[in-house]
Amino acid sequence: MIYAANFKTNHTRQSTREYLGKLQMKLLLDKNPNDEIYIFPPLTALDEYNSSDFTVGTQNAYPFESGAFTGEVGLEQLREFNIDTILIGHSERRDIIGESQEQVAKKFEFFKEQGFKIIYCIGESLEVREKGIEIVMEHLISQFEGIDTTYENFMVAYEPIWAIGTGRTASVEEITETHNRLKKVVDRPLLYGGSVKGANIAEISAIENVDGVLVGGASLKSETFLELVLH
Ligand code: 13P
Repeated sequence: MIYAANFKTNHTRQSTREYLGKLQMKLLLDKNPNDEIYIFPPLTALDEYNSSDFTVGTQNAYPFESGAFTGEVGLEQLREFNIDTILIGHSERRDIIGESQEQVAKKFEFFKEQGFKIIYCIGESLEVREKGIEIVMEHLISQFEGIDTTYENFMVAYEPIWAIGTGRTASVEEITETHNRLKKVVDRPLLYGGSVKGANIAEISAIENVDGVLVGGASLKSETFLELVLH
């Protein structure tokens, strides 16, 4: 299984360091060697965290080496900390920050060229979900526009927007059907995200085409994230 923690705009440099220290101690003893663990702290908390038990990635970056892009972080800054893993296409960036599919695709292309491991996020609103699975799939597939789905170093995170931070997880049936259909479109590891927590990790991780989870709220404390990883 793949377990990815997205801190979003939570944690500081200091609390991230403490978190990763606790994580490391526990993983060293109890980690299943087949599991992959990713942590995405905020940009200000990036540092040189070398561990064979987990990978630290960035939640975002600007698709340029360096240059005049006030407020953005490029490849040069990521390289300082050996970051080669990135989240792209998260619904919060699409919907709150206003990233278009074109911008998302440009970012994907740039970091693909750099050989980054990409976790590419897609998801639908409740309004779309209520229109039924065919419309949901049309919407999800439209989020692959401009994306090279043959790239070998990326995975997909399916995160229904209505399940993010709401406590309302998609049902096992909804996840099963969506992931089965997605697997036929992109043959890459598929993560589910949206209110994953200790109480539902067993049933979600048991679904055939769920290869991992992308976790927000329940990843903020090392104890609750470890509960998922070590379930
Ligand atoms: P929650 O786990 O808080 O629902 O967030 C999911 C998410 O958006 C991870 O990227």
